[in-house]
Amino acid sequence: MMLTGQDRPLILVTGGAGYIGSHCSVELLQSGYDVAIVDNLCNSFRAAITRIEELAGRKVDFHQVDLLDELALEAVFAQYDEDGKSKIHAVIHFAGLKAVGESSQEPLKYYQNNITGSLILFQCMERHSVRRLVYSSSATVYGEPPTYPIHEECPTSPNSPYGRTKLFIERIIEDTSRTHSWQSVILRYFNPVGAHPSGELGEHPQGIPNNLMPYLAQVAIGKLSSITVFGTDYFTRDGTGLRDYIHVMDLCRGHLAALLELGTVVTPGCAEIFNLGTGTGYTVLEMIDAFSEATKTDIPFQLGPRRPGDVATLLADPIKANEQLKWRAEYNLNRMCVDLWRWQSTHPNGFSKSS
Ligand code: NAD
Ligand code: WQD
Repeated sequence: MMLTGQDRPLILVTGGAGYIGSHCSVELLQSGYDVAIVDNLCNSFRAAITRIEELAGRKVDFHQVDLLDELALEAVFAQYDEDGKSKIHAVIHFAGLKAVGESSQEPLKYYQNNITGSLILFQCMERHSVRRLVYSSSATVYGEPPTYPIHEECPTSPNSPYGRTKLFIERIIEDTSRTHSWQSVILRYFNPVGAHPSGELGEHPQGIPNNLMPYLAQVAIGKLSSITVFGTDYFTRDGTGLRDYIHVMDLCRGHLAALLELGTVVTPGCAEIFNLGTGTGYTVLEMIDAFSEATKTDIPFQLGPRRPGDVATLLADPIKANEQLKWRAEYNLNRMCVDLWRWQSTHPNGFSKSS
Protein backbone atom coordinates (compact mmCIF):
# COMPACT_ATOMS: atom_id res chain seq x y z
CA MET A 1 0.00 0.00 0.00
CA MET A 2 1.36 3.46 -0.90
CA LEU A 3 0.00 6.38 1.08
CA THR A 4 -0.01 9.80 -0.56
CA GLY A 5 -1.05 13.35 0.20
CA GLN A 6 -0.92 15.35 3.38
CA ASP A 7 -2.87 12.89 5.49
CA ARG A 8 0.05 10.55 5.87
CA PRO A 9 -0.10 8.70 9.18
CA LEU A 10 2.76 9.67 11.48
CA ILE A 11 4.72 6.82 13.05
CA LEU A 12 6.89 7.54 16.08
CA VAL A 13 9.90 5.20 15.89
CA THR A 14 11.95 4.77 19.07
CA GLY A 15 15.49 3.54 18.41
CA GLY A 16 15.13 4.60 14.78
CA ALA A 17 18.83 5.40 14.38
CA GLY A 18 19.73 1.79 15.23
CA TYR A 19 20.20 -1.22 12.98
CA ILE A 20 16.62 -2.43 12.53
CA GLY A 21 14.90 0.89 13.25
CA SER A 22 16.85 2.73 10.54
CA HIS A 23 15.96 0.18 7.86
CA CYS A 24 12.36 0.22 9.00
CA SER A 25 12.23 4.02 8.90
CA VAL A 26 13.30 3.99 5.24
CA GLU A 27 10.56 1.48 4.44
CA LEU A 28 7.96 3.51 6.31
CA LEU A 29 8.90 6.72 4.49
CA GLN A 30 8.93 4.95 1.13
CA SER A 31 5.49 3.50 1.86
CA GLY A 32 4.13 6.98 2.47
CA TYR A 33 4.16 7.25 6.25
CA ASP A 34 5.64 10.24 8.04
CA VAL A 35 8.30 9.31 10.56
CA ALA A 36 9.45 10.86 13.83
CA ILE A 37 12.46 9.20 15.43
CA VAL A 38 13.34 9.26 19.12
CA ASP A 39 16.83 7.95 19.84
CA ASN A 40 19.50 8.95 22.35
CA LEU A 41 22.25 7.66 19.99
CA CYS A 42 23.80 5.60 22.80
CA ASN A 43 24.36 2.77 20.31
CA SER A 44 23.98 4.50 16.97
CA PHE A 45 25.06 7.46 14.87
CA ARG A 46 23.49 10.72 13.71
CA ALA A 47 24.75 9.80 10.22
CA ALA A 48 22.16 7.01 10.10
CA ILE A 49 19.40 9.63 10.14
CA THR A 50 20.96 11.40 7.15
CA ARG A 51 21.20 8.07 5.29
CA ILE A 52 17.56 7.31 6.02
CA GLU A 53 16.57 10.66 4.54
CA GLU A 54 18.80 10.25 1.50
CA LEU A 55 17.53 6.76 0.75
CA ALA A 56 13.87 7.68 1.19
CA GLY A 57 14.19 11.12 -0.41
CA ARG A 58 12.17 12.55 2.47
CA LYS A 59 12.82 14.13 5.85
CA VAL A 60 12.25 12.62 9.28
CA ASP A 61 11.64 14.52 12.51
CA PHE A 62 14.62 13.48 14.59
CA HIS A 63 14.58 13.95 18.38
CA GLN A 64 17.79 13.09 20.23
CA VAL A 65 16.02 12.13 23.41
CA ASP A 66 16.56 9.43 26.03
CA LEU A 67 13.43 7.45 26.89
CA LEU A 68 14.49 7.75 30.52
CA ASP A 69 14.15 11.55 30.29
CA GLU A 70 10.43 11.78 30.94
CA LEU A 71 10.18 15.56 30.55
CA ALA A 72 11.95 15.54 27.19
CA LEU A 73 9.85 12.64 25.92
CA GLU A 74 6.67 14.32 27.12
CA ALA A 75 7.71 17.43 25.15
CA VAL A 76 8.12 15.33 22.02
CA PHE A 77 4.62 13.91 22.40
CA ALA A 78 3.19 17.35 23.20
CA GLN A 79 4.67 18.69 19.97
CA TYR A 80 2.42 16.36 17.98
CA ASP A 81 -0.82 17.24 19.78
CA GLU A 82 -3.31 19.12 17.65
CA ASP A 83 -6.80 20.17 18.77
CA GLY A 84 -6.57 17.85 21.76
CA LYS A 85 -5.64 14.88 19.57
CA SER A 86 -2.24 13.34 18.85
CA LYS A 87 -1.03 13.25 15.25
CA ILE A 88 0.93 10.10 16.12
CA HIS A 89 -0.89 7.17 14.52
CA ALA A 90 1.27 4.48 16.14
CA VAL A 91 4.56 3.87 17.91
CA ILE A 92 7.12 1.30 16.81
CA HIS A 93 9.31 0.66 19.83
CA PHE A 94 12.81 -0.53 18.91
CA ALA A 95 14.84 1.40 21.49
CA GLY A 96 16.71 -0.75 23.96
CA LEU A 97 20.02 -2.30 24.90
CA LYS A 98 20.53 -5.74 23.36
CA ALA A 99 23.92 -7.24 24.28
CA VAL A 100 23.19 -10.55 25.99
CA GLY A 101 26.62 -10.90 27.64
CA GLU A 102 26.73 -7.31 28.88
CA SER A 103 23.26 -7.74 30.39
CA SER A 104 24.64 -10.45 32.69
CA GLN A 105 27.46 -8.13 33.80
CA GLU A 106 25.20 -5.10 34.25
CA PRO A 107 21.65 -6.30 34.83
CA LEU A 108 20.50 -3.09 36.54
CA LYS A 109 21.54 -1.02 33.53
CA TYR A 110 19.43 -3.29 31.31
CA TYR A 111 16.38 -3.32 33.60
CA GLN A 112 16.59 0.45 33.99
CA ASN A 113 17.08 1.27 30.33
CA ASN A 114 14.77 -1.28 28.75
CA ILE A 115 12.00 -1.61 31.32
CA THR A 116 11.93 1.86 32.86
CA GLY A 117 12.43 3.39 29.41
CA SER A 118 9.47 1.41 28.06
CA LEU A 119 7.31 2.33 31.07
CA ILE A 120 7.99 6.03 30.56
CA LEU A 121 7.21 5.68 26.85
CA PHE A 122 3.96 3.80 27.51
CA GLN A 123 2.87 6.37 30.10
CA CYS A 124 3.46 9.17 27.58
CA MET A 125 1.48 7.23 24.98
CA GLU A 126 -1.45 6.74 27.34
CA ARG A 127 -1.40 10.40 28.44
CA HIS A 128 -1.65 11.44 24.78
CA SER A 129 -4.13 8.70 23.82
CA VAL A 130 -1.67 7.08 21.41
CA ARG A 131 -2.86 3.50 21.70
CA ARG A 132 -1.32 1.65 18.76
CA LEU A 133 1.99 -0.09 19.35
CA VAL A 134 4.37 -2.42 17.53
CA TYR A 135 7.06 -3.79 19.83
CA SER A 136 10.45 -5.40 19.04
CA SER A 137 10.66 -8.57 21.04
CA SER A 138 13.01 -11.46 20.48
CA ALA A 139 13.14 -15.22 20.07
CA THR A 140 15.46 -15.08 23.05
CA VAL A 141 12.31 -15.08 25.26
CA TYR A 142 11.88 -18.79 24.44
CA GLY A 143 15.21 -19.81 26.01
CA GLU A 144 15.68 -23.52 25.25
CA PRO A 145 12.27 -24.52 23.87
CA PRO A 146 11.11 -28.14 24.25
CA THR A 147 10.14 -28.61 20.58
CA TYR A 148 10.93 -27.24 17.12
CA PRO A 149 9.91 -25.27 15.20
CA ILE A 150 8.90 -22.76 17.87
CA HIS A 151 5.36 -21.42 17.76
CA GLU A 152 4.05 -18.46 19.75
CA GLU A 153 2.39 -20.63 22.41
CA CYS A 154 5.67 -22.35 23.35
CA PRO A 155 6.67 -21.75 26.97
CA THR A 156 8.99 -18.79 27.56
CA SER A 157 12.11 -19.04 29.67
CA PRO A 158 14.74 -16.44 28.75
CA ASN A 159 18.20 -17.20 30.05
CA SER A 160 19.69 -13.70 30.34
CA PRO A 161 18.71 -10.41 31.99
CA TYR A 162 18.37 -8.97 28.46
CA GLY A 163 15.92 -11.71 27.51
CA ARG A 164 13.96 -11.16 30.71
CA THR A 165 13.62 -7.45 29.95
CA LYS A 166 12.10 -8.36 26.58
CA LEU A 167 9.64 -10.75 28.22
CA PHE A 168 8.69 -8.40 31.07
CA ILE A 169 7.99 -5.64 28.56
CA GLU A 170 5.75 -8.05 26.63
CA ARG A 171 3.78 -8.62 29.85
CA ILE A 172 3.52 -4.87 30.51
CA ILE A 173 2.17 -4.41 26.99
CA GLU A 174 -0.38 -7.20 27.46
CA ASP A 175 -1.67 -5.71 30.71
CA THR A 176 -1.71 -2.16 29.34
CA SER A 177 -3.45 -3.19 26.13
CA ARG A 178 -6.16 -5.05 28.03
CA THR A 179 -6.77 -2.27 30.53
CA HIS A 180 -6.50 0.76 28.25
CA SER A 181 -7.83 -0.70 24.99
CA TRP A 182 -4.53 -0.50 23.15
CA GLN A 183 -3.96 -2.32 19.89
CA SER A 184 -0.53 -3.89 20.17
CA VAL A 185 1.61 -6.22 18.13
CA ILE A 186 4.57 -7.96 19.72
CA LEU A 187 7.05 -9.19 17.13
CA ARG A 188 9.52 -11.86 18.21
CA TYR A 189 12.44 -11.58 15.82
CA PHE A 190 14.65 -14.59 15.23
CA ASN A 191 18.17 -13.71 13.98
CA PRO A 192 18.08 -10.46 11.95
CA VAL A 193 20.98 -10.13 9.50
CA GLY A 194 21.86 -8.43 6.23
CA ALA A 195 21.73 -4.80 5.24
CA HIS A 196 19.88 -2.37 2.99
CA PRO A 197 20.21 -3.46 -0.67
CA SER A 198 21.67 -0.02 -1.54
CA GLY A 199 24.72 -0.75 0.60
CA GLU A 200 24.22 2.62 2.32
CA LEU A 201 22.66 1.38 5.56
CA GLY A 202 23.63 -1.53 7.77
CA GLU A 203 24.59 -2.68 11.23
CA HIS A 204 27.43 -0.89 13.01
CA PRO A 205 28.36 -2.99 16.04
CA GLN A 206 30.26 -1.31 18.87
CA GLY A 207 33.73 -2.87 19.31
CA ILE A 208 34.23 -6.53 18.47
CA PRO A 209 30.92 -7.97 17.26
CA ASN A 210 29.15 -10.50 19.48
CA ASN A 211 26.98 -11.89 16.71
CA LEU A 212 27.95 -14.34 14.01
CA MET A 213 27.22 -12.42 10.80
CA PRO A 214 28.85 -9.09 11.72
CA TYR A 215 31.83 -11.06 12.98
CA LEU A 216 32.11 -12.99 9.71
CA ALA A 217 31.91 -9.71 7.80
CA GLN A 218 34.82 -8.26 9.78
CA VAL A 219 36.90 -11.38 9.18
CA ALA A 220 36.16 -11.16 5.46
CA ILE A 221 37.23 -7.49 5.34
CA GLY A 222 40.42 -8.32 7.26
CA LYS A 223 39.64 -6.44 10.49
CA LEU A 224 39.58 -9.70 12.43
CA SER A 225 41.85 -12.62 11.62
CA SER A 226 39.53 -15.61 12.12
CA ILE A 227 36.31 -16.73 13.75
CA THR A 228 35.83 -19.31 16.49
CA VAL A 229 32.92 -21.70 16.06
CA PHE A 230 31.28 -21.85 19.48
CA GLY A 231 30.53 -25.53 20.11
CA THR A 232 30.69 -28.58 17.88
CA ASP A 233 28.75 -31.06 20.01
CA TYR A 234 25.21 -29.74 19.70
CA PHE A 235 22.45 -32.07 18.60
CA THR A 236 22.25 -30.53 15.10
CA ARG A 237 23.17 -31.88 11.65
CA ASP A 238 26.86 -30.95 11.96
CA GLY A 239 27.14 -30.35 15.72
CA THR A 240 27.19 -26.52 15.48
CA GLY A 241 24.41 -24.15 16.57
CA LEU A 242 21.44 -23.78 14.23
CA ARG A 243 19.55 -20.49 13.84
CA ASP A 244 16.74 -18.98 11.78
CA TYR A 245 18.43 -16.01 10.08
CA ILE A 246 16.09 -13.40 8.62
CA HIS A 247 16.98 -10.55 6.26
CA VAL A 248 16.48 -7.16 7.94
CA MET A 249 14.38 -5.99 4.95
CA ASP A 250 11.98 -8.90 5.42
CA LEU A 251 11.77 -7.96 9.08
CA CYS A 252 10.89 -4.39 8.10
CA ARG A 253 8.09 -5.59 5.85
CA GLY A 254 6.80 -7.52 8.86
CA HIS A 255 6.45 -4.23 10.75
CA LEU A 256 4.56 -2.62 7.87
CA ALA A 257 2.26 -5.65 7.74
CA ALA A 258 1.71 -5.37 11.50
CA LEU A 259 0.83 -1.67 11.20
CA LEU A 260 -1.79 -2.48 8.59
CA GLU A 261 -3.38 -5.10 10.83
CA LEU A 262 -3.75 -2.73 13.81
CA GLY A 263 -7.49 -2.27 13.86
CA THR A 264 -8.35 -5.44 11.92
CA VAL A 265 -6.65 -8.62 13.18
CA VAL A 266 -5.50 -6.68 16.23
CA THR A 267 -8.50 -5.10 17.90
CA PRO A 268 -8.61 -2.77 20.94
CA GLY A 269 -7.59 -4.52 24.13
CA CYS A 270 -5.49 -6.98 22.19
CA ALA A 271 -1.71 -7.63 22.26
CA GLU A 272 -0.99 -10.16 19.56
CA ILE A 273 2.34 -12.00 19.42
CA PHE A 274 3.96 -13.03 16.12
CA ASN A 275 7.21 -14.82 15.35
CA LEU A 276 9.17 -13.22 12.54
CA GLY A 277 11.44 -15.87 11.06
CA THR A 278 11.81 -17.82 7.85
CA GLY A 279 11.18 -21.30 9.23
CA THR A 280 14.52 -22.46 7.75
CA GLY A 281 17.64 -22.85 9.85
CA TYR A 282 21.37 -22.90 9.13
CA THR A 283 24.26 -24.08 11.26
CA VAL A 284 27.36 -22.02 12.00
CA LEU A 285 29.45 -24.05 9.55
CA GLU A 286 26.81 -23.61 6.86
CA MET A 287 26.82 -19.86 7.50
CA ILE A 288 30.60 -19.68 7.15
CA ASP A 289 30.35 -21.56 3.84
CA ALA A 290 27.49 -19.42 2.56
CA PHE A 291 29.23 -16.15 3.46
CA SER A 292 32.51 -17.27 1.98
CA GLU A 293 30.75 -18.37 -1.23
CA ALA A 294 28.63 -15.20 -1.57
CA THR A 295 31.55 -12.87 -0.96
CA LYS A 296 34.26 -14.91 -2.70
CA THR A 297 36.47 -14.49 0.35
CA ASP A 298 38.28 -16.95 2.52
CA ILE A 299 37.01 -17.13 6.12
CA PRO A 300 39.58 -18.71 8.43
CA PHE A 301 37.92 -20.42 11.40
CA GLN A 302 38.75 -22.65 14.33
CA LEU A 303 36.52 -24.94 16.35
CA GLY A 304 36.04 -23.97 19.99
CA PRO A 305 33.95 -24.73 23.07
CA ARG A 306 30.31 -23.74 23.51
CA ARG A 307 29.53 -20.13 24.42
CA PRO A 308 27.80 -20.03 27.83
CA GLY A 309 24.05 -19.42 27.52
CA ASP A 310 23.77 -20.56 23.89
CA VAL A 311 21.10 -23.06 22.84
CA ALA A 312 21.47 -25.71 20.13
CA THR A 313 18.61 -24.63 17.90
CA LEU A 314 16.32 -21.62 17.43
CA LEU A 315 13.92 -22.14 14.55
CA ALA A 316 10.68 -20.23 14.02
CA ASP A 317 7.28 -21.50 13.12
CA PRO A 318 6.21 -18.36 11.18
CA ILE A 319 2.78 -19.67 10.16
CA LYS A 320 0.79 -17.28 12.35
CA ALA A 321 2.48 -14.24 10.77
CA ASN A 322 2.16 -15.83 7.31
CA GLU A 323 -1.58 -16.24 7.74
CA GLN A 324 -2.70 -13.35 9.93
CA LEU A 325 -0.25 -10.63 8.88
CA LYS A 326 -0.17 -11.92 5.29
CA TRP A 327 3.60 -11.66 5.55
CA ARG A 328 6.29 -14.10 4.51
CA ALA A 329 10.09 -13.78 4.47
CA GLU A 330 11.33 -13.61 0.88
CA TYR A 331 15.10 -13.13 0.90
CA ASN A 332 17.29 -16.25 0.90
CA LEU A 333 20.59 -16.82 2.67
CA ASN A 334 22.69 -15.80 -0.32
CA ARG A 335 20.88 -12.45 -0.44
CA MET A 336 21.47 -11.92 3.30
CA CYS A 337 25.20 -12.48 2.77
CA VAL A 338 25.48 -10.41 -0.43
CA ASP A 339 23.66 -7.41 1.06
CA LEU A 340 25.67 -7.52 4.28
CA TRP A 341 28.87 -7.71 2.25
CA ARG A 342 27.90 -4.74 0.06
CA TRP A 343 27.49 -2.62 3.21
CA GLN A 344 30.61 -3.96 4.95
CA SER A 345 32.92 -3.75 1.93
CA THR A 346 31.86 -0.23 0.92
CA HIS A 347 31.71 1.07 4.52
CA PRO A 348 34.42 -0.84 6.39
CA ASN A 349 34.05 1.53 9.34
CA GLY A 350 30.27 1.68 9.25
CA PHE A 351 28.99 5.14 10.09
CA SER A 352 32.29 6.35 11.57
CA LYS A 353 33.71 9.44 9.87
CA SER A 354 36.68 7.52 8.47
CA SER A 355 34.42 5.34 6.27
P1 NAD B 1 20.42 -1.20 17.98
O1 NAD B 1 21.25 -1.15 19.20
O2 NAD B 1 21.09 -1.05 16.67
O3 NAD B 1 19.26 -0.09 18.05
C1 NAD B 1 18.64 0.27 19.26
C2 NAD B 1 18.58 1.79 19.28
O4 NAD B 1 17.95 2.19 20.50
C3 NAD B 1 19.94 2.46 19.23
O5 NAD B 1 19.95 3.42 18.19
C4 NAD B 1 20.10 3.13 20.60
O6 NAD B 1 20.83 4.33 20.52
C5 NAD B 1 18.64 3.34 20.98
N1 NAD B 1 18.39 3.39 22.43
C6 NAD B 1 18.77 2.50 23.38
N2 NAD B 1 18.34 2.90 24.59
C7 NAD B 1 17.69 4.07 24.41
C8 NAD B 1 17.03 4.97 25.27
N3 NAD B 1 16.99 4.79 26.60
N4 NAD B 1 16.46 6.08 24.75
C9 NAD B 1 16.51 6.32 23.42
N5 NAD B 1 17.12 5.50 22.55
C10 NAD B 1 17.71 4.39 23.04
O7 NAD B 1 19.58 -2.56 18.04
P2 NAD B 1 18.73 -3.27 16.90
O8 NAD B 1 19.46 -4.50 16.48
O9 NAD B 1 18.28 -2.30 15.90
O10 NAD B 1 17.51 -3.77 17.79
C11 NAD B 1 16.31 -3.04 17.86
C12 NAD B 1 15.35 -3.75 18.80
O11 NAD B 1 15.14 -5.09 18.33
C13 NAD B 1 15.86 -3.88 20.23
O12 NAD B 1 14.78 -3.65 21.10
C14 NAD B 1 16.31 -5.32 20.33
O13 NAD B 1 16.15 -5.82 21.64
C15 NAD B 1 15.36 -6.01 19.38
N6 NAD B 1 15.91 -7.23 18.79
C16 NAD B 1 17.09 -7.17 18.10
C17 NAD B 1 17.62 -8.34 17.56
C18 NAD B 1 18.93 -8.33 16.83
O14 NAD B 1 19.56 -9.39 16.72
N7 NAD B 1 19.39 -7.22 16.31
C19 NAD B 1 16.92 -9.56 17.71
C20 NAD B 1 15.72 -9.55 18.40
C21 NAD B 1 15.22 -8.38 18.94
C1 WQD C 1 24.48 -17.37 16.21
C2 WQD C 1 25.23 -18.69 16.25
C3 WQD C 1 26.65 -18.92 18.17
C4 WQD C 1 29.52 -15.82 17.13
C5 WQD C 1 21.60 -13.29 19.51
C6 WQD C 1 20.96 -12.94 20.81
C7 WQD C 1 19.46 -12.98 20.67
C8 WQD C 1 18.99 -12.10 19.50
C9 WQD C 1 19.73 -12.43 18.25
C10 WQD C 1 18.42 -9.93 20.33
C11 WQD C 1 25.26 -19.31 17.64
C12 WQD C 1 27.46 -18.91 16.90
C13 WQD C 1 28.45 -16.68 17.12
C14 WQD C 1 30.84 -16.36 16.93
C15 WQD C 1 29.89 -18.55 16.72
N1 WQD C 1 19.24 -10.72 19.76
N2 WQD C 1 28.63 -18.02 16.91
N3 WQD C 1 30.96 -17.71 16.73
O1 WQD C 1 23.16 -15.97 20.00
O2 WQD C 1 21.54 -16.86 18.26
O3 WQD C 1 21.22 -14.61 19.15
O4 WQD C 1 21.15 -12.39 18.48
O5 WQD C 1 17.33 -10.20 20.79
O6 WQD C 1 18.95 -12.53 21.87
O7 WQD C 1 21.37 -13.89 21.78
O8 WQD C 1 23.09 -14.99 17.65
O9 WQD C 1 24.73 -14.32 15.99
O10 WQD C 1 25.41 -14.38 18.43
O11 WQD C 1 25.00 -16.52 17.22
O12 WQD C 1 30.04 -19.76 16.54
O13 WQD C 1 31.84 -15.64 16.96
O14 WQD C 1 26.59 -18.43 15.89
O15 WQD C 1 27.18 -19.83 19.09
O16 WQD C 1 25.19 -20.70 17.49
P1 WQD C 1 22.28 -15.72 18.85
P2 WQD C 1 24.61 -14.96 17.32
